[in-house]
Amino acid sequence: MAKKKAEDEAPLEGDSSGIETLRVLVVHGPNLNLLGEREPEVYGRTRLEDIDRELKQLGAELGIKVKTFQSNSEGDIITRIQEARGKIDALLINPAGYTHTSVAIRDAIIALEAPTVEVHLSNVYRREPMRHRSTIADVAVARIMGFGAPGYALALRAVRSLVETARRQRA
Ligand code: DQA
Repeated sequence: MAKKKAEDEAPLEGDSSGIETLRVLVVHGPNLNLLGEREPEVYGRTRLEDIDRELKQLGAELGIKVKTFQSNSEGDIITRIQEARGKIDALLINPAGYTHTSVAIRDAIIALEAPTVEVHLSNVYRREPMRHRSTIADVAVARIMGFGAPGYALALRAVRSLVETARRQRA
């Protein structure tokens, strides 16, 4: 009995608090490098570098190591997701315009085998019909949209529970 208790209380990894440090990759797709300048009435005035800095700060509070990546190129996004295989616990991705077209990013997410959250700044369902289709919606564990820049932080706050649920389902 005493042994069981000791095992239950053992830290999973990392720091002395006993909370496992999670690794999360945040991927931003094309044109999101222009956030703050591009269509501010749709996407807000927060710049991408501010979103990334705040995510890293929040991650430090939550015990989550956050890496961020932006590219305007579909191939570079796919390569970055491939490089993350086996090295991250969850992916947050806003594929931007590729959301609506990219089978290849969808395939990379499937091959990643890590819980993935689809993030959009705008509520795409309030916009043109072409934006209503997502190639990744059904391979993501969750989707968050319409909150603007704070949506990324909401997604990060939910990550630990999504990772735990995914692990329970695999076990
Ligand atoms: C977006 C929505 C997409 O339709 C668009 O192409 C983007 C940004 C969003 O975050 O709201 O570039 O993904």
